[in-house]
Parts: sequence; structure tokens; C-alpha cells
Amino acid sequence: MTDTNGSGGPLVVDDPVRGLFRVHRSTMTSPELLQRERELIFDRSWLYLGHESELPKAGSFKTRTVAGRPLIFARDHTGRIRAYLNACPHRGAQVCREAQGCAKRFTCFYHGWTFANSGELLTVPGDEAYGEGFDRSELGLGEAPRLEAYRGFVFVNFDRGAVDLPAYLSGACEYLDLLVDQNPDGMEVIGGTQEYSMRANWKLLVENSIDGYHALTTHATYFTYLKDLGTDLSMGVSGTARQLGNGHGVIEYAAPWGRPIAHWEPRWGEEVRQDLDRLRDELVARLGQERAIRIAERNRNMVIFPNLVVNDIMSITIRTFEPITPDYMTVSAWALAPRGEAPELRARRLDSFLTFLGPGGFATPDDIEALEVCQRGFRTWREMEWSDLSRGMTNAHPGANDELQMRSFWRRWNDLITGAPAAAEPVPTPTGAAR
Ligand code: FES
Ligand code: FE
Repeated sequence: MTDTNGSGGPLVVDDPVRGLFRVHRSTMTSPELLQRERELIFDRSWLYLGHESELPKAGSFKTRTVAGRPLIFARDHTGRIRAYLNACPHRGAQVCREAQGCAKRFTCFYHGWTFANSGELLTVPGDEAYGEGFDRSELGLGEAPRLEAYRGFVFVNFDRGAVDLPAYLSGACEYLDLLVDQNPDGMEVIGGTQEYSMRANWKLLVENSIDGYHALTTHATYFTYLKDLGTDLSMGVSGTARQLGNGHGVIEYAAPWGRPIAHWEPRWGEEVRQDLDRLRDELVARLGQERAIRIAERNRNMVIFPNLVVNDIMSITIRTFEPITPDYMTVSAWALAPRGEAPELRARRLDSFLTFLGPGGFATPDDIEALEVCQRGFRTWREMEWSDLSRGMTNAHPGANDELQMRSFWRRWNDLITGAPAAAEPVPTPTGAAR
């Protein structure tokens, strides 16, 4: 299948010579394409499950949904991290119905089978009624076929034959390293989970999460607020875009909002300046001037294909989303922070996590409104067929306000959906011709 509109045309037009990149809007509305995405993308890609710090001790667990499947993200009594299928081997009930907790065992409420936190079936009420073919050792909790972690980020894959996680992450490893290297004692997820939903296709949030172009218009209220607080906005939002392989992409840029990692901003007050100076000195001593300044002063918004966003900006957000229907998704977001962070800095970080990135903050409601009005606009997809993502395609050095990072996603998406592998975007010469 190469199209859904009956015209025989492609879903993605990729013309580097003319500097044109377009995506057919049926990709945002078609139930058949969502089904193909489930089979060809979500059932085969490495998908984020959670962060190791969310399971602080043996027995800790969180229930999550990944690729439509209910899972138990758990640390067993040996300390090993597991991803159990949250479905009873007996007759299918969800074994764990709590959002989180700490348990030595999981007891299914339907008929009372009990499982160790390491998955083995322990007790079966009335098991004398079963014949000799009933083998308890075969009836433990099932697990996601693959589970691997990279620097604390835990992923699962439902394709047993998938490449290893570091190979999949490809160039995204460099950016996860930049994040984790912020603190010699590592990072931890803090606070609770932000959960919300949008009446929009999940790929709109992929695009939006790495879209520098929309910031000044969609988030005008936030920039006015910063200005009213006396923030210097003269630097604007400027930086670079990169494709990171396997559909991952990132923008890296300077922005006026300051970062609670060695980058003071006047509205935070003098009382945290010394803490930030100390952090900066530690970073420079440990990592060298260049890497330390890059970590401290640059913002990074990254998408790890298909549905993980890691935004390292005025706070660090981990965000993942699940398509429910072509025009509806659920979103989960967590704040990540350096372990042992000074309380004053932690307070500013959490304030940013709520006031800018929270579901009631400055940014997220604006973004939800933008994506929902796009989705409503897509009702005209038969007449207004194409969305344009050509920005910066003839630019030798694509910027954070260009769309290279989104094209990277869409090329991978198109490869997997149509089975027609596409090359990475050629680097244009300064005159604009592709080479
Ligand atoms: Fe779980 Fe029967 S379905 S014990
Ligand atoms: Fe936004």
C-alpha cells in the first residue's frame, strides 16, 4: 500500500533537488494506516517504558501501557528490572490493578492465583482439582519479549529479533549522554506523572515537540510573560537541527529562559546564583569547558522514534504518547532531575515543569489547541491534501526553526509503512543544490 486516497500517489513527497517535502494528510486521519502503524512501527520499535529511578527498591512497580499493551514495570526481589504482561496466565484478568506500589507478590483478584514479583506462579487455590498436565512452571507471568536500558532509560520491544537498543538509538545516544552527564550522581524522575489527552493524531505531537518554528507565535503569551519579568529576549531562539538516524531527530539552541543547570537567569533571584556557579565549576572540572558549556547553556528537544520525547530545556521532560484512534492520543510526562539537587533549584525546576510544560501551564494548552485545530483542519484532507515540511531543505546548515528533524521522522515512518527505504537527507551545497 502506498496511498489511501485512491489516487495511487505517495504518502510522502521527498524532493531534495527542488527542496520540497510534503506529507499526505490521510496519514493523520486513516484508521487503516493507524492499524499499519501498530503492526509495522509500534510492534517492532524500541518503546520507552520508564526510568530505572522510578523503581527505587526491590518490589517497586508501576503499571504502564505501551503499544496498547498493559504492562507491569517492576523491580523483582533480586533487583532486576522486568516488564511483565499485565494479563493473568489463567484467564486473562489484569493481575495488577494499582498504578504503583511495592509488592512481594501479585495476586489476581479473579480466581486468586498468586505470582512472585519475579514472575513465578506461587499458589493456585484448589490446585488439587488439576490433572498432571497442569504445570505451574509454565504459568508464570509473561514478559515483553525484549527489555534493555540505556543510561537509566528502560525500553521494551515486542519484536524478539529487533536490533540491540544502542544500535537502535544510534545518534540519540549522544544526547542522552549529554543529559545524564549533567550530574556525577545520576538522574532521577521526580514528582508524579502528568497525564492528559488530545484530540489529535500522535504524529502531530512528534512534530510539535521538535518544532522551533512555532515557539514565538503559538507561545507568544509566554514570551510576553518573560519580558514582563525583565528577561532579556534579544537572543531569540536560535540553533541547529540534526537527524540522528533511525528516524530520531533533535534541535539544539540557545533560548532566553535560563536553565536550572549551571545557567542563571535573573528572575530566579540572587539566592540561587552561588548554587549555579558551583554546578558550573563542577561541570567544567569534570567534562571540560566546551562540553560543560554545551550542557549548561544549550537547550535540546529530541524525538526518539516513534513516540519518546526528551526535552532538556528549562526543566527536563520525558514524554511519551499512545495513539488511541487516528484523531486521539493519550500523553504521559515526567520530570527528570539531577539526584541530590539543591532544594532551591529543585523548586525552580518543578515550577518550570508545571508553569511552562504542565497540562495547565503556558505551553502545553497552547500546543494542544494548535494540534487539535490542525486535526480539525484535516477533515478537508480530500481537498487540501498536503502538509508542508520543506523548511530549511536547501539550507546547508539547517536551523532549529527549520524542519530537518521532522523530515527525519517522516522518512523513517515512510520506510516502515511502505517498505521503500529512503536515504537520509543529502546535505545541500551553499547554492542550494543537493549533493
Ligand atoms: Fe487470574 Fe483466574 S484470571 S486467577
Ligand atoms: Fe510548543
